[in-house]
Amino acid sequence: MKKIIVSNRVHYIGTNDRRKHLFENNWPLPYGVSYNSYLIADNKTALIDTLEFGSKDDYLEEIESILQGKQLDYLIINHMEPDHSSMIGWIIKRYPGVKIVSNNKAFKMLDAYYGVEKERIHEVKDGDTLDLGYHKLKFVMTPWVHWPETMMTYDTTDAMLFSCDAFGSFGTLDGAIFDDEINFSFYEDEMRRYFSNIVGKYSHMVQKALAKLSGVPVKFVCPSHGPVWRTNPEKVIGLYNKWSLHEAEEGVVIAFASMYGNTEKMADYLARLIAQRGVKNIRIYDVSKTDASYILNDIWKYKAVVLGSSAYNSKMHPKMQHLCNELEILNPKNKNYALFGSYSWSGGGLKSLIPFAEKMSWEMVAPPVEVMGSPKISEMEGFEEVASKIL
Ligand code: FEO
Repeated sequence: MKKIIVSNRVHYIGTNDRRKHLFENNWPLPYGVSYNSYLIADNKTALIDTLEFGSKDDYLEEIESILQGKQLDYLIINHMEPDHSSMIGWIIKRYPGVKIVSNNKAFKMLDAYYGVEKERIHEVKDGDTLDLGYHKLKFVMTPWVHWPETMMTYDTTDAMLFSCDAFGSFGTLDGAIFDDEINFSFYEDEMRRYFSNIVGKYSHMVQKALAKLSGVPVKFVCPSHGPVWRTNPEKVIGLYNKWSLHEAEEGVVIAFASMYGNTEKMADYLARLIAQRGVKNIRIYDVSKTDASYILNDIWKYKAVVLGSSAYNSKMHPKMQHLCNELEILNPKNKNYALFGSYSWSGGGLKSLIPFAEKMSWEMVAPPVEVMGSPKISEMEGFEEVASKIL
């Protein structure tokens, strides 16, 4: 591979993972994911974050070919999750003199994961600097974007922000590395899915990080997943701001769990009523078919959500329960919502959806609709109110 220069003496040395099926063994990766790592070959040399172990077999050779016989002076750890940290042991083995630069919380994790000698660590606090020669780095503590130890590294010389998970995306970098080389319409969806699935729970901490960075000139955003932003970094910063403020687009997600098709009929009936009122963005999802990852992404994207479940052992359907668990954890806010259900004897689907929805920071727009057996139009009159008030 030809060397990929991000800016003066800063090399992109990331890789693409097209083999893994599930990120964190939970979130589907139909388009893979990239792990981005950066090497600064300055008077002093520094590696910023590593890769997931096994994702790039010539990683060490690439570092060696860029350093051309120089030692690696620093390994900067912005985040300890193993998709970025699990090559640390190999780096230390190859460069035994390397100093590991990070914060106190990261070092506790580093020790717990891999063990680390005290004399190797170089602890930094918020605002501390590290002079590499041409590049002068500053460390910005941004806890909980995504874990408590998360920090960012800012190069004051070229205004580069090494942001780790923040501003990251699912999806491999298929030849194109930089924002001016990609078709963003593909990445926008995968970027929001990454945000909503991984970082969105900590939206208030994303807002704190953005406030800390406001007024700081940023010419490059170099995340640890997805495209590197060198032409229009304001775009990705703006999107993260919008998503972490829970600002949504006009649209409705209807997610249903249906055992034999009756609850699905209710979803279709309601969707038609909403469409007749001029709403263009309506997505219906069968929770037994579509992974919660994608449904969450669209719920984050759109203003309104309607959940419907058949009764299942006197509760909601287990697949709907899974979606609700994820929603409760990841906590998308400021939604309009409505509920519906069907049952065959004493109910349970709607009954268990109600207390779930009451726990969310959502606004119920109309009373729930519930039917026994196959839905009749006369039993779904309540959907008229749902359709008229959902947006
Ligand atoms: Fe990409 Fe939180 O690790």
